[in-house]
Amino acid sequence: MPTLPLDPITRRDLLRLAGGVAALALAAGPFAALAQNMPGGGPVKIGTIGAGREGGALGTLFAKAGHPVMFSSRHPEQLNDLVAAAGPNAKAGTVKQAVDFADVVLLVVPYTAIEEIGREYGKELATKPLVMDISNPIPRRDGEALVKTVNEQGGAGLATAKMLPGSHIVRAFNAVGSGQLAQLANRPGEPVGIPIAGDDKNAVALAERLIKQIGFEPVLVGGLAVGKHLVPGTPLAGVHTPEEIRQAAATLKE
Ligand SMILES: NC(=O)c1ccc[n+]([C@@H]2O[C@H](COP(=O)([O-])OP(=O)(O)OC[C@H]3O[C@@H](n4cnc5c(N)ncnc54)[C@H](OP(=O)(O)O)[C@@H]3O)[C@@H](O)[C@H]2O)c1
Repeated sequence: MPTLPLDPITRRDLLRLAGGVAALALAAGPFAALAQNMPGGGPVKIGTIGAGREGGALGTLFAKAGHPVMFSSRHPEQLNDLVAAAGPNAKAGTVKQAVDFADVVLLVVPYTAIEEIGREYGKELATKPLVMDISNPIPRRDGEALVKTVNEQGGAGLATAKMLPGSHIVRAFNAVGSGQLAQLANRPGEPVGIPIAGDDKNAVALAERLIKQIGFEPVLVGGLAVGKHLVPGTPLAGVHTPEEIRQAAATLKE
């Protein structure tokens, strides 16, 4: 009997599964270095600054995909339940411990906290190949004055870059609700698109690979100047296919 060709979805799902299993197997084993040559790339140490609703949900997806994750908080002892739910690849620490630990940092804090984080950890963050900026300036939470200042600096992407000079920043996941992430990740059929914006080619490539590994399709919509559109309430916000994001992005002005 002839072998039926796999349809594209099945093939993609198999590749994802194989990548996840291989990453888990190789993460701590003697072939950890080899894992870097795997298609899609091997495990990357991820530290989250902020482990609330969004940081907790995203870090959990990365831990479950085989990446070592350190969640951080100013009160890491309060993260025990999150760590337990995220599984054996997850642990918790202080913000400093997470920054020291991480190759990739997820910045998932109220926007008002970024200035202080930049003062305390900016130098070390600038040594990382990727700082994924998931944080948004929200008037209701952060105050109108802060949002005005951010807008005067060109919006969330450029303002984050100013507070974290030298960091390789990519904005991503800014307007997908924390409660939806687990369900949307690895969605059967067409993956959910994640608009991203960044100026550094290598950081963008690393962000793209990590986003694919948790079952989303990254869509680069522009440089950090376009990051101002990656906030709740814009045409790019919410759940869209990659093609819908490309179409919406084409109508945006820097
Ligand atoms: N929630 C969503 O659905 C969603 C979706 C997309 C993007 N976002 C964005 O993600 C960011 C976080 O939102 P969230 O809903 O996850 O908030 P959250 O549940 O209130 O969590 C905020 C986190 O930030 C940490 N934090 C606050 N100030 C800090 C500081 N000065 N230094 C270090 N850590 C600090 C808190 O840690 P401590 O334990 O130390 O207080 C906490 O872990 C926001 O900018 C939001 O706009 C949220």
